[in-house]
Amino acid sequence: MIDIHSHVIPMVDDGSKNFMVTERMLEEASKAGFKEIFATPHYFDEKSIKREDMLVHFNELKKLATSYGINLLLGNEVFVSHDLPSLVKDKVVSCMNDSRYLLFELPRNNDINYLQDVLFELSSMDIVPILAHPERYRFVIENPESLIELSNYGLLFQGNSGSILGDYGDTVRKTAITLLKMNIYQFWGSDAHSQDRYEAFNLSKKYVDKFAGEGVFEILTETNPAKVRDNLEVDIDIHKTKKSLFFWRK
Ligand SMILES: [Fe+2]
Repeated sequence: MIDIHSHVIPMVDDGSKNFMVTERMLEEASKAGFKEIFATPHYFDEKSIKREDMLVHFNELKKLATSYGINLLLGNEVFVSHDLPSLVKDKVVSCMNDSRYLLFELPRNNDINYLQDVLFELSSMDIVPILAHPERYRFVIENPESLIELSNYGLLFQGNSGSILGDYGDTVRKTAITLLKMNIYQFWGSDAHSQDRYEAFNLSKKYVDKFAGEGVFEILTETNPAKVRDNLEVDIDIHKTKKSLFFWRK
């Protein structure tokens, strides 16, 4: 498996607190069956560590990860802002393994009115944004179908294993079930900040199988992340419900 979302680099964000925690994470990830991990530290604003400096941390950790049988790849989880396109253009943040794919997140509870402008600009730069854990955002919890409109902008979606296991509460878990049934996700990642999410990762498989279908787990944790790594096109196959078809006609 390939983990598309992990805060495994120590002391660069709110993820791994130190090298000991990182070693535990690598050990548990390896036990769970991960052969590759995208290190995706948060980038919030100008106070966050920029790509150039992050590369130093990343290269140091890459050697350690190899000793656990894990190939480490660099990305970021970038908090949305007006500046997102220029942060990509100026290489302040890292696309996933230097591909066209960019992992990003939104504010949990606030709507932002410029999202479509940002998505349009990214698409004009041939950047494909991957929205991290859509099941955790208020606007998605209130209206899961809204993701279908966003997918029209070429947006891809990554679910968190912890969401289906109840780590973020029952509402998020139920939303993740709805999104699995809609086949919204192209990726299923750990969003690990410590070893816990790797210890529990495989417990999420039965729910992905149950709600999205047999074989989908492998597509979300292996096939599609490999396409991101290799900068290949990822297929989208969202199930459009009757409600969502109506939603389109509005
Ligand atoms: Fe994250």
